[in-house]
Amino acid sequence: MRYPFVAGNWKMYKTTAEAKAFAKEFKKIYVPSDVRVAIFAPFTQLAALAEEFRGSGIGLGAQNVHYEKEGAYTGEISIPMLTEIGVEYCIVGHSERRQYFNETDETVNLKAKALLAAGITPIICVGEDLYQREHNYQDKLVAEQVANALAGISPEDAAKTVIAYEPIWAIGTGRTATPIQANQMCEVIRRELTKIYDEETADRVVIQYGGSVKPENATEILNMEEIDGALVGGASLEPLKFNEIINF
Ligand code: PGA
Repeated sequence: MRYPFVAGNWKMYKTTAEAKAFAKEFKKIYVPSDVRVAIFAPFTQLAALAEEFRGSGIGLGAQNVHYEKEGAYTGEISIPMLTEIGVEYCIVGHSERRQYFNETDETVNLKAKALLAAGITPIICVGEDLYQREHNYQDKLVAEQVANALAGISPEDAAKTVIAYEPIWAIGTGRTATPIQANQMCEVIRRELTKIYDEETADRVVIQYGGSVKPENATEILNMEEIDGALVGGASLEPLKFNEIINF
């Protein structure tokens, strides 16, 4: 039931004109296959991309959201606002949001619950920093992040989530986890899912690796047993590179 899923996280890159130019280029080379593909763009580019991607098979995601439906939250974006545009996915708990914008396990959990209730697939990001890796805390930390993110979520809903293992020390650094290291951590995640739920549920959750994935290392990483896909930052900004990763 699991599907390969390559997601492009644009972070705070590309204006609307640049996003449209990407879409036009990318649609020329992209061939739909059994690999699910989605672009996670800044909020202001989502409507234009929804238009560009209509009927192309290319999915659309947001990089963050507020968990309340509406309210006095200046500067925030709600789930109904995303639904209206046709957004199908949303990243939750990216390490950059945890690090710079006070995202916590608790807000990750609230966002994941609200997204699932609205039929949007959350990509829940987990991963250790360099200090934690050097002190061998990664298994415990990542298992805890998964358990906290999914607290109070039913097995049926949990099976619909995507989890992205992104070691912080490998994001945007050019340093990649070895395929074996990445696979081991995806195994840790699946074991935790089995512990919280059961084997059947754990088997259904799509687990991505993220952190300096590029055309040169995508094949090796994506062919690992426990790794179902990739969350790609830098290399998703260029249509050719991103397409090469999809065709791993
Ligand atoms: P990167 O980013 O591929 O540029 O390392 C990955 C991510 O942060 O999702």
